[in-house]
Amino acid sequence: MDLFADLEKIVKHNVSMAEHTWFRLGGPAKYFVEPTSEDELLEVVRRCHENNVPIYILGRGSNLLVADKGVDGVVLRLSNPCFNLIEFHGENTVRAGAGTDLSVLLGECARKGLSGLECVAGIPGTVGGAVKINAGGRFGDIGNVAQSVKLMDSSGYRFERTRPDIFFGYRMTNIMAKFILGAEFNMTPDDPEQIGRMIKEVWMLKKNTQPMNSRNAGCVFKNQRAISAGALIDKAGLKGTKIGGASISERHANFIVAQDGATSQDVLDLIEHVRRAVRDRFDMELELEIEVWQ
Ligand code: EPU
Repeated sequence: MDLFADLEKIVKHNVSMAEHTWFRLGGPAKYFVEPTSEDELLEVVRRCHENNVPIYILGRGSNLLVADKGVDGVVLRLSNPCFNLIEFHGENTVRAGAGTDLSVLLGECARKGLSGLECVAGIPGTVGGAVKINAGGRFGDIGNVAQSVKLMDSSGYRFERTRPDIFFGYRMTNIMAKFILGAEFNMTPDDPEQIGRMIKEVWMLKKNTQPMNSRNAGCVFKNQRAISAGALIDKAGLKGTKIGGASISERHANFIVAQDGATSQDVLDLIEHVRRAVRDRFDMELELEIEVWQ
């Protein structure tokens, strides 16, 4: 039987991942699937599980490098509005679907006078992606306010995890389930204008220190024991280093920027070059912060 019999309307074939990543790099996904309901998602997950077809979940593609050869499996995107619902409950609780754009959620919370998510201002991602890696920055992480998460495992079983069963650390969580369907956040009532000012402050800091208008995937490496990976790479004298069409940003050394003609392999080679240089110079091992599909 055809893997996606009766589901053809939500499946595209050989979709270029370059169109779906901020790097604008990456070969084709064999299947690109956008379910229109949770039950359809369940059916896709179930069939892939039974047929040993790997699934890769795409958010906004802003923290992702896809290999030039592409993805031999299913790339799943929760783009349908049914995965983007935002609901307010009681005085300070907001629930959001995994596909919800962080900036949309942040805007809605600010309008309602609910503070807690300002730390994710300027991160071009989804709720699901942000929860999975506990996205954030100097002002905090999304995990600070995440109260519970709605999950699905790779066999299609749906369940919820609540604090203290869920744990958030620096760019990590203890969530093992493959699919995040949504999350609930415990916010603090505050003045909408004050929230707006904080969002602007977080955003301005990024604008002033990061190469915002370029093809990149944010910080490439995790900071190590509170030492900024960007500062280490900078101290190693690597700003501006180029391999093919990929270069270390002059503005922030933890960003790799892709130029015209760049390939994913150029970025991978530059990543290895940086790792080696930092190892040789500081005897430190840099760990990837971005996700790589290869
Ligand atoms: N620095 C340098 N040279 C550089 C870059 C930074 O010397 O090229 C120095 C800065 O001067 C500063 C220190 O390193 O003293 C820290 O830099 P920054 O404030 O830019 O913060 P970061 O630790 O490099 C983290 C997150 C960013 C987040 C910012 C701001 C990581 C890996 N990075 O960067 O997150 O936007 O704080 O909150 O945790 C991302 O996750 O993709 C990301 C960009």
